[in-house]
This record gives sequence, structure tokens and C-alpha cells, in this order.
Amino acid sequence: MRPLRLEDAPDVFLMRSSTAVMTFTPSIPETDVEQSREWIAKCLERPNCWNFSMELLPRNIDDTLHKPRVIGVIGAIRTPEVGYMIHTDFWGKGYASEALQAFMPVFFEHYSGKEIYSFAEAHVDPEHIPSRKVLEKAGFMLLEVRKQDFQSPTLGMRDTCIYRLERPGKALETN
Ligand SMILES: CC(C)(COP(=O)(O)OP(=O)(O)OC[C@H]1O[C@@H](n2cnc3c(N)ncnc32)[C@H](O)[C@@H]1OP(=O)(O)O)[C@@H](O)C(=O)NCCC(=O)NCCS
Repeated sequence: MRPLRLEDAPDVFLMRSSTAVMTFTPSIPETDVEQSREWIAKCLERPNCWNFSMELLPRNIDDTLHKPRVIGVIGAIRTPEVGYMIHTDFWGKGYASEALQAFMPVFFEHYSGKEIYSFAEAHVDPEHIPSRKVLEKAGFMLLEVRKQDFQSPTLGMRDTCIYRLERPGKALETN
């Protein structure tokens, strides 16, 4: 994982143009790579956004023909809320789980100075089982289910599961 960059737009577009990837997000699939470039640009300029690209490296380190390719994005999307997406070709291989478990210590370390968060949060549709598993495996706990609070552009009004991960060493608060 390394910081998200504007040059990642073509690979990010492969994800953000996919109906399957965008189903449980607040956005409709993108139709032009420029929309992905704009999405990245906004992430980079918003202070409450801190995103990383997941690169798939060539199998052989001496392989100079194949460049690393971005197959996922993970990070703080509106701190302290975190989010992630993986290209459909790479679903079910454990990448999101591995990435989130690697990212959370980095998140708490990064937001431990002047801007400190006592927890990270994730918002997920109750029917989005893979994402719920990713969160639970990383130690996130279901805090509440908000009824009919999210207008999905494709699915209509939906409930939202609010998951939280407390900063390590801090007692669990439920209010
Ligand atoms: C949610 C998402 C990031 C999961 O990524 P992933 O790399 O496939 O996740 P993992 O491989 O770590 O799998 C997590 C669990 O979901 C299961 N899973 C993954 N894809 C699945 C699928 N298509 N159908 C059923 N189960 C699936 C895995 O088997 C695994 O279960 P396990 O813990 O019992 O082994 C990916 O599906 C995605 O990018 N979705 C679109 C974007 C999105 O919805 N982001 C989250 C918004 S809240």
C-alpha cells in the first residue's frame, strides 16, 4: 500500500466504473476516466480524506516489463470513517481483509497527535456480507443499525450498519 496518486486514475476507473463495485456506495458507476481523476483530486485536497492504493506487484521482482497495478483503494474517507474497494477480478482473495488489518494501526498512529480520534467507524449496508466480514475480522464491532437513513442511488432507501473500532488501549464506549 502507498498513498493514492492522480496517476492512479486509469486503474481506479476500472473499479469506479463497475456496477458491482459501486452497488453499496453513495455514487453511481463512473463513465469517464476524468471522473475518477476528479474523485482522486478531491480526496487529495480534502483534509478529512487520507487514502492509499493497493498495488499488485509483478510476481518476479526482476520483471521490468510489468508495472505494478492498482487493484484497490483503502483509507479514511471522512475521518474517522474508513472505506475500501477492490477490483472485482481480485475479490475473495483476502486482500481487503489483509489491507484493513494493516491500515488500522497506521490510522491510529497517524491520528494520534493534534487531530486524534478515539475510534474509527465504517458504514455498511446490512446485506453487504463481504464488507461486514472484512470489518469484523479487523476487530470492528457493530454499534447500531440506523433504519432507512441512506438514500442509495441504485437501491433506494436503505438501513446502515455502523461499525466501530476503538483506539487500542481505550475502553469500549457505546454512547
Ligand atoms: C467489500 C470488498 C472490499 C471485499 O473485498 P475482498 O478482497 O473480496 O474481501 P476478502 O477477500 O477479504 O473477503 C472478505 C470475506 O467476504 C467473502 N467474500 C468476498 N467476496 C465475496 C462474494 N462475492 N460473495 C460472497 N462472499 C464473498 C470472503 O470469502 C471473505 O469471507 P470469510 O471471512 O468467511 O473468508 C469488495 O467486495 C469490494 O470492493 N466491494 C465493492 C466496494 C465496496 O462495497 N466497499 C465497501 C463499502 S462498505
